[in-house]
Amino acid sequence: MIQTDFLVIGSGIAGLTYALKVAQKYPEKTITVITKTQTDETNTKYAQGGIAGVWDETRDSFSKHIEDTLIAGDGLCNKEIVEIVVKEGPERIREIIEYGAAFDKDEAGIYSLGKEGGHSENRILHHKDVTGMEMERALLSQLSALPNIQLLNHCFVVDLITQHHLGYLVTKSTLDITCYGVYVLNLQRNQIEKIVAKIVLLATGGCGQAYRTTTNPKIATGDGVAMVYRAKGKIENMEFIQFHPTALYEPGVSPSFLITEAVRGDGGILRNKSGEAFMEKYDSRKDLAPRDIVARAIDNEMKRTGTEYVYLDCRHMDKEKFIHHFPNIYQKCLMIGIDVMQQMIPVAPAAHYSCGGIKTDEWGRTSIRNLYACGECASTGLHGANRLASNSLLEAMVFGHRCFLDSCEKIDQLSFMNSLPDWNALGTAEPREMILITQSLKELQQIMSDYVGIVRTDVRLSRAMKRLDLLFEETEQLYRSTKVSPQLCELRNLITVGYLIVKGAQFRKESRGLHYNTDHQEKSAILQNIIL
Ligand code: FAD
Ligand code: SIN
Repeated sequence: MIQTDFLVIGSGIAGLTYALKVAQKYPEKTITVITKTQTDETNTKYAQGGIAGVWDETRDSFSKHIEDTLIAGDGLCNKEIVEIVVKEGPERIREIIEYGAAFDKDEAGIYSLGKEGGHSENRILHHKDVTGMEMERALLSQLSALPNIQLLNHCFVVDLITQHHLGYLVTKSTLDITCYGVYVLNLQRNQIEKIVAKIVLLATGGCGQAYRTTTNPKIATGDGVAMVYRAKGKIENMEFIQFHPTALYEPGVSPSFLITEAVRGDGGILRNKSGEAFMEKYDSRKDLAPRDIVARAIDNEMKRTGTEYVYLDCRHMDKEKFIHHFPNIYQKCLMIGIDVMQQMIPVAPAAHYSCGGIKTDEWGRTSIRNLYACGECASTGLHGANRLASNSLLEAMVFGHRCFLDSCEKIDQLSFMNSLPDWNALGTAEPREMILITQSLKELQQIMSDYVGIVRTDVRLSRAMKRLDLLFEETEQLYRSTKVSPQLCELRNLITVGYLIVKGAQFRKESRGLHYNTDHQEKSAILQNIIL
């Protein structure tokens, strides 16, 4: 058993921001950061375009960034949270620059600000086309200097420990559900261990792996959301899954390589198979309309012309500038035989971001006591029905900071819960057939992509639910009888996440933001978040 004052689950931008701050503030307290594979294998590492923030106040303003975020969110953003994130954002960006993150500057030494869909101004700070990797690097280098932080890699958190594990009945209506720690599968020792903590922060990232085609790495399996749902905490707005319009079309390759929206911000144009620049048919903002609109337009063009991709045309762009801003994309395309200055890039939408998640308040507090959530796994109210590009890294840093501030208020009043039971593996055996897990995962991804994608209908959703029910039953049976493995836990979590996405989609009898149902094309007059 490990005892730690602060337990941070996840080593992406959200978890590291929080961990760094608590470790600096409390050199005498212990902080443990857990991650299920290598420390830097996160969604954060793959972030390309950059981080949005009001930087050039001669042209930009808080009110413009707030307005753009609200428009993208299509009526469901929490305005108070939008104001908090936009106004506190620049301070957090300055902080990470102090930690050593190097955002690109122009020849005059001024930060060069990119533009992405839905933004009315240039406000995206970036490091080439590998911004997330640079931010992660800066945070990890700060963290390594702090002796009170313990980084545990290859440790898979299986479940939160609450009163349920002490034998009490815990339901959705229990008011004081409290988190005492977690059960972790230590993959080096191949055993389940107990970690007891005063405060737990979930920063477990997204759930793109619920879909067959996604930009998210393998770790993005919605574990935090599923754990909170099992512990009877509140989850909201899971139906709002954002599909990035332009993932590189490379059949059989997973995850899909992203072609950042910043390429369109610098002048890239979407064309269909006949070479027509089609976006002007769909929105006056053309290629830089918000993502939900661009992804649906591409989906429509692909269906109309019977193709599996459209093209992103960069042939007219300045070669030197392209290579300077997007060296990684340029190289990746060359590797598969595409010289972007001569040929168009085949692209298709891919599941990219979960706008909903674990419901939190303005301090990152979940509905479970002593449990915080921030980053992509959380639903703070910032994104509403559709996230504005490059607002995610920003939200993670602002809320990492806010969770830290609130934890400081609390930590000295908390003590460890000592009488927690060990993990009970009685009646379970080594897995005999991995195919039972791998095939079910494929089925799940197929169901979600075919029935719960960019365009939905009532019949597709009800079919998806029936099929998920069967997968759920079979997987629970396997879980009860088999020694747990990351693969089995991830499958179980993804089925739960799939269920939450479908349930949310079924409750939402309207089309709004990222949720588009041809049986309910109008927007409802009543604005509501769907809490499950
Ligand atoms: P992550 O960075 O995903 O970290 C999750 C962590 O949780 C990992 O360490 C993982 O190991 C750990 N974890 C999860 N489950 C468990 C478990 N059961 N046990 C132990 N550990 C666990 N956003 C922007 O704002 N700008 C961009 O330019 C941008 N580009 C993007 C490009 C790509 C290709 C992708 C995929 C996303 C992009 N995003 C972008 C979104 C953004 O990168 C993510 O939303 C953000 O990085 C999420 O950070 P996080 O800290 O919440 O989670
Ligand atoms: C991109 O670079 O296009 C991704 C930005 C984001 O997801 O916010």
